[in-house]
Amino acid sequence: MGNQSSTCCDIMLFGALGNLATRKLLPAFYHLERAGLLHPQTRILLLAREPMAAEPARQRFAELINSRVMPAEQDEACLAKLMARIAYSPLDFAAAEGYRALAGWRGESTERPLVLYLATPPSVYGVIADQLGRTGICGPSARVVVEKPVGHDFASSCEINDRLAAVFEERQVFRMDHYLGKETVQNLIALRFANNLFASQWNQDHISHVEITVAESVGIEGRWGYFDQAGQMRDMVQSHLLQLLCLIAMDPPADLSADSIRDEKVKVLRALKPIAGDVPNDQLVMGQYTAGSVAGQPVPGYLEEAGANPQSLTETFVSIKAEILNWRWAGVPFYLRTGKRLPEKVSQIIIHFKPAPHYIFDPDQRHLAGNRLIIRLQPDEGMALQILTKEQGLDQGFRLRQGPLELTFAEAFDQTRVPDAYERLLWEVIQGNQYLFVRRDEVEYAWRWVDQILAAVARRAEPPKRYAAGTWGPVASVAMVARDGRSWHEDN
Ligand code: BG6
Repeated sequence: MGNQSSTCCDIMLFGALGNLATRKLLPAFYHLERAGLLHPQTRILLLAREPMAAEPARQRFAELINSRVMPAEQDEACLAKLMARIAYSPLDFAAAEGYRALAGWRGESTERPLVLYLATPPSVYGVIADQLGRTGICGPSARVVVEKPVGHDFASSCEINDRLAAVFEERQVFRMDHYLGKETVQNLIALRFANNLFASQWNQDHISHVEITVAESVGIEGRWGYFDQAGQMRDMVQSHLLQLLCLIAMDPPADLSADSIRDEKVKVLRALKPIAGDVPNDQLVMGQYTAGSVAGQPVPGYLEEAGANPQSLTETFVSIKAEILNWRWAGVPFYLRTGKRLPEKVSQIIIHFKPAPHYIFDPDQRHLAGNRLIIRLQPDEGMALQILTKEQGLDQGFRLRQGPLELTFAEAFDQTRVPDAYERLLWEVIQGNQYLFVRRDEVEYAWRWVDQILAAVARRAEPPKRYAAGTWGPVASVAMVARDGRSWHEDN
């Protein structure tokens, strides 16, 4: 991102005191400043409900930013420079009066792009869009950024998207999925479409199955109210996991333009086989964690977390056997798995290649046959290609040995710091590039697929299966892949 000069713009951040803004966005502004990626005249207006005068607000935000930046990265001059562009204004999102002040702040500078970042709960996207529409500040140069989840289901996402569309054209709407801002996720595009070696193997002739795991060791982190309404399916599968699935499964785009990439992703979403009807356990497992221990520390169960409703049936774990009904992927299962309070934080994709058609080595090593490409999205970003070689030594005959061709990004690239996804995505919004953002039809097709699963689960009326915190989810998730004669990567 450093080779381009930054666009001069005005930025309004709604929800500036919320979790997302304080944890991710304010530090991201700091790092963009530090990297020299904010144009000297770019201005930032922070907006939240709380009444605060200019000076105490400035003080508070400076402290918030400092508390989120690693000591080694703290730089007083940089913070002062950032704070000099920042102003604060209290705003009741629903009340028209406050919005007039926004037009006043924007002033006559209507030529420069205006970035409207809604770091608020999705339930107020509609009302903010309506109010913004009345202010007259949302001209053709305006861009609105909304976070996932856009809505709670297909119907509510349509309602939000309609209200956004009443004020903004689709080219002005930037729907965030922060996984698309991760360097390693973008690398999937390079891996697939810059390496003909893989391109020719990337189909049902050569790949037997794909695993996508997004595991977290954290629990709910004080977000019980939000999370219990969403559950892991809406919070993670509808967005992050389906985006990863699309990047792995999509056909090559004609170019790197936003619409070429998004057209191909939509084709994948449309081809997902519905998981409806009675949903047997060999296609879908939902779990909820009970008390256990993670990294040697005892942790409470989901129903014992602060603020919990002890009757909740919300899932904190999902594994799904997904299928894509098209020529490229017919018969290739995509096993998706995500959960809270699993043993470690790890996001990885494993591509299992089919074994050679005729096996000539020791029969007792037949299980080794087949190459695997392991793509580590986080942590320890990199990839490994598991290949088979011969054991060294005179006495080894033709014993096979499985070993990795390894690429660890931290070692391969002389880069001390990997930018956070939000830095990349904020930068792309400022520059007006939409390719890392989710188009309306993508969100809607993803919701349709998830909605029919959730409807089937509701009909099934079974509580989620329990799993102890610190384990890899319910036993049924292991059984789901074992039924196909397979195992999850960490069980190998
Ligand atoms: C968010 C979810 O979108 O992603 C959280 O709402 C989740 O529940 C988080 O913890 C995980 O993101 P990351 O970048 O830490 O893998």
